[in-house]
Parts: sequence; C-alpha cells; structure tokens
Amino acid sequence: MPRTALIAGNWKMNGLAADLDFFDAIAGPAASSPADVLICPPATLLAAAAARCADTGISVGGQDCHAHEAGAHTGDISAAMLKDAGARYVILGHSERRADHGESDAMIRAKADAVLAAGLIPIICVGETKAEREAGKAQAVVTAQLAGSLPDNPQNMELVIAYEPVWAIGTGLTASVSDVEEMHAAIRAALPEPLTTRILYGGSVKPANAESLLALPDVDGALVGGASLKASDFTSIINAAGR
Ligand code: PGA
Repeated sequence: MPRTALIAGNWKMNGLAADLDFFDAIAGPAASSPADVLICPPATLLAAAAARCADTGISVGGQDCHAHEAGAHTGDISAAMLKDAGARYVILGHSERRADHGESDAMIRAKADAVLAAGLIPIICVGETKAEREAGKAQAVVTAQLAGSLPDNPQNMELVIAYEPVWAIGTGLTASVSDVEEMHAAIRAALPEPLTTRILYGGSVKPANAESLLALPDVDGALVGGASLKASDFTSIINAAGR
C-alpha cells in the first residue's frame, strides 16, 4: 500500500491571531492535493487554528509536549491538552528543543509514549550536526537517536519520523538528493513498522527543491519551517507533493 505524503508546516515561535488567514489561503490547494496537510502553529493559536481548519481536511498539531498528563509543571503543556485544543499530531525532539532545552533521546521517548497514549501521532525528529556529518558519523548518530527515542511499544501505532539534518535547518542548505535517499533508506531499515511509517525530510525545504526531494522513494513528505510561514510558498510545496 503506498504511503500518503504528509506536508507538515512548523511555525516555530511565529504567528499571531492575525496570521490565521493563512488557512483560508491554503484550504483550496490542500483539498485538491493527494497529500495530508498539517500545520503546527504555536500553542497559543492551536484552538483557533483547529476551528479554522474544521471541514478543510487540514490537520493541526503541537510543536512539543510534556511527558506527563497533568500536574505541577509550570509553563508546560500535556498531550491531552493539545488533543483537547484540536491537535492530531505532535512534533517531538526537534533539534531546536534538543539544543535549547537539553532534550535527550530518553525524554523524547517518554513524550512519544505520552502522545500515543493520548491518541495522537508523534512526529519524532532526528538529524546529525555538520561536525557529525563531516566526521562520517551521520548514519550512526541518526540510528542511535532513533533507537533511543522511538516509543516503547510502537508496533501497530502510527508514528512519523522526520529526518532533519541540523545544519540544513533555517540555513538555506539542503542535503543532497543522494544523501537524503541513503539516510531515509537507513531509517526505514531501522523502523519496527518499515512499510507503513512515514519518513519526512526537513531542512530548508522550499518551492525550488520540494519536487526533487518529494520524488525520492523513501521520502514520504516534508517538515517545513520558514517556507510554511508564507501561504504561497507552502502552497507550492503542497502542489509539489501531488506531482
Ligand atoms: P526550515 O526548518 O524549513 O526553516 O529549515 C525546518 C524545521 O526546523 O522543521
């Protein structure tokens, strides 16, 4: 069974209520695309974004969550809360969270368990730094991250992996098509459900490179940062998934 492509936008710490018109702009292209379309806005906009997306087929998701369901964790948000606000997916272990908040593979695994327990779909991010790639360690780093951060019992659970080389995020640099192909094949081989799990590529995906990346056999979609903030760019990427 072919995997349905997933085109996911990660707004990071961007977006105010005035930016929600974005959803009206992408609704038509999303409806006519064979791909699933997802936007992960900041948590402050999640409920309003979900309301805008009702009846459009566009999903919304969180950018992170706490591993516990509730409790004394000031400033944190649980998977159950994200679900309550309308989320269907949750990005976990983004390199900005690994770097800025010291998130370890074990923490990401605990969050993935929480996301699955809440009935949501985790998008687990992995990726090597520039130094690790230059040292020839990219595949070893990524497969170790995967082994450490996959949930305990992922069999028969839907989850998504995003391969995002750290040096390609927000830099305008993208991994070469052959490097992406090689890494995605290695990730697929390491997955408990290799045939059904979607593996996204992320890192400076834009209209100009989306088509060649999305055409690769083991690339099942894209996790898009900067280019998900502009409806015209994101629409071009949605359209590239349909070709
Ligand atoms: P970028 O970000 O598209 O701006 O490189 C991707 C990501 O961090 O998910």
